[in-house]
Amino acid sequence: MINLSIPKTAGCLLIICLVHINSIVKAQNSVKEPVVQEEKINSLLQKMTLEEKVGQMNQYNGFWEITGPAPKDGDAKKKYDHLRKGMVGAVLNVKGTENVRKLQEIAVKETRLGIPLLFGYDVIHGHKTLFPIPLGEAASWDLAAIETSARTAAIEASAAGINWTFAPMVDITRDARWGRVMEGAGEDTYLGTKIGLARIKGFQGDDLAANNTIIACAKHFAGYGFAEAGRDYNTVDVGTSTLYNTILPPFKAAVEAGVQTVMNSFNTLNGVPATGNKWLQRDILKDAWKFNGFVVSDWGSGMEMIDHGFAANLKQVAEQSANAGSDMDMESYAYVNHLKELVETGKVDIKLVDDAVRRILRVKYKLGLFDDPYKYCDAAREKELIYNPAHAVAALDVAKRSIVLLKNTYVKGSGRPLLPLAKNQQKIGVIGALANDKNSPLGSWRIGSDDNTAVSVLEGLKKYSSNLTYAKGADLAIGKTDFINEVKINETDTSGFKEAIQLASNSDMVIMVLGEHGFQSGEGRSRTKLNLPGVQQQLLEAVYAVNKNIVLVLMNGRPLAITWADENIPSIVETWQLGSQTGHAIAQVLYGDYNPSGKLPMTFPRSVGQVPVYYNTLNTGRPGPKPEVFWSHYGDESNKPLYPFGFGLSYTSFAYSNLVINDANPAAVKVTATVTNTGKLDGEEVAQLYMRDKVASVVRPVKELKGFSKFSLKAGEARQVSFTLTAAELGFYDNTGTFVLEPGDFDLMIGGNSVEGVKGSFTLK
Ligand code: NOJ
Repeated sequence: MINLSIPKTAGCLLIICLVHINSIVKAQNSVKEPVVQEEKINSLLQKMTLEEKVGQMNQYNGFWEITGPAPKDGDAKKKYDHLRKGMVGAVLNVKGTENVRKLQEIAVKETRLGIPLLFGYDVIHGHKTLFPIPLGEAASWDLAAIETSARTAAIEASAAGINWTFAPMVDITRDARWGRVMEGAGEDTYLGTKIGLARIKGFQGDDLAANNTIIACAKHFAGYGFAEAGRDYNTVDVGTSTLYNTILPPFKAAVEAGVQTVMNSFNTLNGVPATGNKWLQRDILKDAWKFNGFVVSDWGSGMEMIDHGFAANLKQVAEQSANAGSDMDMESYAYVNHLKELVETGKVDIKLVDDAVRRILRVKYKLGLFDDPYKYCDAAREKELIYNPAHAVAALDVAKRSIVLLKNTYVKGSGRPLLPLAKNQQKIGVIGALANDKNSPLGSWRIGSDDNTAVSVLEGLKKYSSNLTYAKGADLAIGKTDFINEVKINETDTSGFKEAIQLASNSDMVIMVLGEHGFQSGEGRSRTKLNLPGVQQQLLEAVYAVNKNIVLVLMNGRPLAITWADENIPSIVETWQLGSQTGHAIAQVLYGDYNPSGKLPMTFPRSVGQVPVYYNTLNTGRPGPKPEVFWSHYGDESNKPLYPFGFGLSYTSFAYSNLVINDANPAAVKVTATVTNTGKLDGEEVAQLYMRDKVASVVRPVKELKGFSKFSLKAGEARQVSFTLTAAELGFYDNTGTFVLEPGDFDLMIGGNSVEGVKGSFTLK
């Protein structure tokens, strides 16, 4: 129970009273593991040689072709050899029941102790059937839908032999230049935490021993989303308050929810690489939070400590990583080559190795691998579940919920907005290479899936209309595009413009599908520009010159600064990369069979120079505006974003009224408001509660999301939304990492985005 009786601190100008609720040095909960399981692990540990223990801490990439000829570079032979000697605890990137079974058989039948392997894979937004990219899904603000997505991914992945996903990425980020924004839930810690938990629940389910659940991995611990200037793998330099209040909470919540693994990260934090960071991995994660699972390094992140200038050689990498608490080495070859010797020479305490191995074995026990190592290797199940039609239905449902309507203004003379489209077979021109693309809509990070398997926008639209004509306008990318190489964007070829302009001139209206190539976001894919890449802006303006009735369908993996489009184009729809069912989801929304309900999980900037631009900023000492220049602003751009966090329109409209705060019980402050559907259509709304702690010992943001609720309202219907603010919402971490609750004045707002809503205040006594 949280104690809310507040001792008065004498002599303070502002009487700031701290209640220590829990701090990073004190565990919230400590998971009790079953005695039988722990005894089994201990007895197995006693039988293991040091080499076998080190083996459990070693993870190899399974590039060897199990059922075909092995690569000739010798490495595969060495890896097989290690596998047979029990020197491998897990592999990654091996999929398919046949492949998995063959490797598992070696581990179980040929090694001395027969310890089964873990099979890890980046199952990020679906395995074969693809759901929207995680940033897109986050825009649904629909936790049940997000859980379904992860659940479906787990069902398909486990049917293909996989028992461990490297997801969810719970890195909070404020920089749209960073390519990996597509893989997370955006800029907000509260939303990101809830979404991370929904994903973990979806992957891990209620029973890890079932054959359709897989272990999740909260990554990247910690700070990776704050890579300087949005350049992937770059240095991270964050203040204490940001670390405690913004970056760490989703990880802590993941641990409390029972996530089985945590991945460390490539970056340094205060000059110490995360993989060699004892404070992060041992002091916080394992000691303070009582994390019972294991930490896996990121790919080669141990080895990279040499480039960082933290370790002189691979032996030192092994020493630093093991001592710091990185339990499993993914592809650095540090442990497999050096850890045994380091233990023998006293550089690494055997107790630390035992602890790491115990954690890894524990996860294997929980998965039930010791009872049945082949439980994910049922070929009939694989056949039945991969691309199961039910998964397509789920993917379509999540995809349409992820779409955000950004603009839908009245078109002169028509008396209505362009959307939803009339089903009257008006003459529609569809323009843009992305409209006819079956690959980009799948997005990045989908290594298990098959190329060109998305329903394209054109295919989706054709289900609704036979009066469509398509013109590409211009290629988006040139040459071969894949997950490994830089995408080359067409910056010059406008030879297709003529045809597109002609089509636009002869059409009643135009749907333009523009945005980013599917591989322009993701790992290693940072951008300095946030515009429409290549010649697309030029194409948009050229089409606009002949036909202003344009619906702009954006398809992209990050927020874009589309300021010109916002000023000129009547209707704009953000569709991210929606996965396998992209075309159907977009068509259903454009034709009004689904009323859009998504809200932005990340601020859209007006220009790249504003980045990082996010809603929960501090006020500064000079918030302005002022008549003279001496306030915090830009001379050439507004401080305001193009579209704020939480923003998204509907074909209907919602009004907020009647905010009531009941603070009679300071341990549970109740806030309610009325939401009315004031339009003519039924629709779904996401009511959002924002809070500001007005004066605090560590300055608090101008607004912080503290609750949200998504619901349907019939046209004309009203309902009350209700939120409860407890210490968990009202408090914050001070700069020692202690969670504190301070009395004083709080502002509240309930609304449909982070800017507008009904407001009120109360005083926490
Ligand atoms: C590197 C990425 O940073 C990480 O997120 C991923 O899980 C691993 N590679 C394995 O593919």
